[in-house]
Amino acid sequence: MLSKKLQVALNAQVTAELHASHLYLSMAAHFSNADLPGFEAWMRAQAEEERGHAFRLFDFVLDRDGQVELGAIAAPATDFGSALTTMEATLAHEKKVSAQINDLYKLSGDENDYPAQVMLQWFVTEQVEEEKTAMDIIARLKLAGDDGAALLLMDQEMGSRGGGEE
Ligand code: FEO
Repeated sequence: MLSKKLQVALNAQVTAELHASHLYLSMAAHFSNADLPGFEAWMRAQAEEERGHAFRLFDFVLDRDGQVELGAIAAPATDFGSALTTMEATLAHEKKVSAQINDLYKLSGDENDYPAQVMLQWFVTEQVEEEKTAMDIIARLKLAGDDGAALLLMDQEMGSRGGGEE
């Protein structure tokens, strides 16, 4: 049985992952408006991935006979500036999520909930990957600088993001 404290924190993380999905969907629309279909496709995939994260936690709460309580999701911004500032906002958001996951992992230890710790290990590893991916894209955008041709080439590559990531 989940402790009340851990259940509340897991539910908050379900909402946080859905919030991330909402944010990345808004960024996808922003990239569409900016005529960067590859970045748009990447953000759409990212939004789906965040829903997958929410469902992992959602299912875990239910599997442990817990109560799912979804929270409110604030409306995201609609204009995120350049591709670089948008990806910087993505990285900043992922860093926030990493801190939330780390807190959740610590709490599951404090509550002696080993199944939750095992489940959350996946998220700890995933966050390293999420931050690395955003950092790599930012580094390449900085290399591209004001070169429109380089940005278009990168947009093509972003659009080839394969499925199957989570
Ligand atoms: Fe679910 Fe991008 O963290």
